[in-house]
Amino acid sequence: MTAKAQALDLTAGPSAPRPATAFANAKVWRRADLSPTDWTVPVTAEVRGELKAVVADLRRQPMPVNLLDPAEFDMDASRAMMSEVKAKLRDGIGFALIDRLPLDDWEVEETRAVYWLLASLLSRPVAQESWGTIFRDIVDNGNAGADYANTPATKTLFYHTDNSASRLVNDYTALMCIHGAAEGGASEYATLYNLYNAMADEAPELLDRLFKPFYHHRQGIEPKGDPKVSWAPAIAFDGEKLESRFSPNKIASGYQLAGVDMDNAARAALDTACDVIRKKELSALFMMERGQIQIINNREGLHQRAEYKNGPATEQNRHLMRLWLRDRGRRQFDG
Ligand SMILES: [Fe+2]
Repeated sequence: MTAKAQALDLTAGPSAPRPATAFANAKVWRRADLSPTDWTVPVTAEVRGELKAVVADLRRQPMPVNLLDPAEFDMDASRAMMSEVKAKLRDGIGFALIDRLPLDDWEVEETRAVYWLLASLLSRPVAQESWGTIFRDIVDNGNAGADYANTPATKTLFYHTDNSASRLVNDYTALMCIHGAAEGGASEYATLYNLYNAMADEAPELLDRLFKPFYHHRQGIEPKGDPKVSWAPAIAFDGEKLESRFSPNKIASGYQLAGVDMDNAARAALDTACDVIRKKELSALFMMERGQIQIINNREGLHQRAEYKNGPATEQNRHLMRLWLRDRGRRQFDG
């Protein structure tokens, strides 16, 4: 059997011909066009009051976090805040930074409960691994494993889309900062539309290659017995929106696992796309601090995280709490 026959075939997704003209929407911007006020969503005194009351209520009558339903709490101001976030993600620039929650007032389980409730007002938290992980702690565990090309977790994590090798890519990724690193670790976000327009100008034939299939490493988080690689384009178009499965690391390791040499056009297309984002400063750049929550439109964008150094104290050890949110399919990993 060929490696291709053993791959999970995801080519039946959106396949409209790529548009002949440049995109003009709110997700077309460059770094110089934005300032922190464009992506920051402040936590107002009213929202803080609601969240304080939620925590007081849960201290009196605790519940398992995953059973908490925002409809059962008084969260009107929080709901309005999360609507603002969703508007930025879906119809706006593609990302938001909630600034910020009073983590020092809460125990870890209370923080988790508030995070779950806020996230549930935006979309639906879903499993991040086939065995049902809902909250995932993002920390330096020595190395990120073969699935990430053997790079230590503190090294730069290059442009990618989360869960890009699976059947259902999560719509949004939320990252709550419990602690930042001692040094470095800046976040970057770029939309596919910025990239598309720039590549259509600079390297249209390589842009075409991104719309054709690649092998993708499924990171070992796929359901037991499933193919370990998938076969899908890096970018697809549904006639209205672009959809990303662009993750050069997962694609390179996917080819390795499939035992297939990557074609020159594929390699050039991935490299050129990353170069174009860097060279033209198509990404927004920001640091995360304790209590802030970064939420990105994952399917229509790419994110990157700079190299960082942890310090000896707990507060100097980068620790993020991640949720994946998706409105489609069931809450299980593969929907
Ligand atoms: Fe990521």
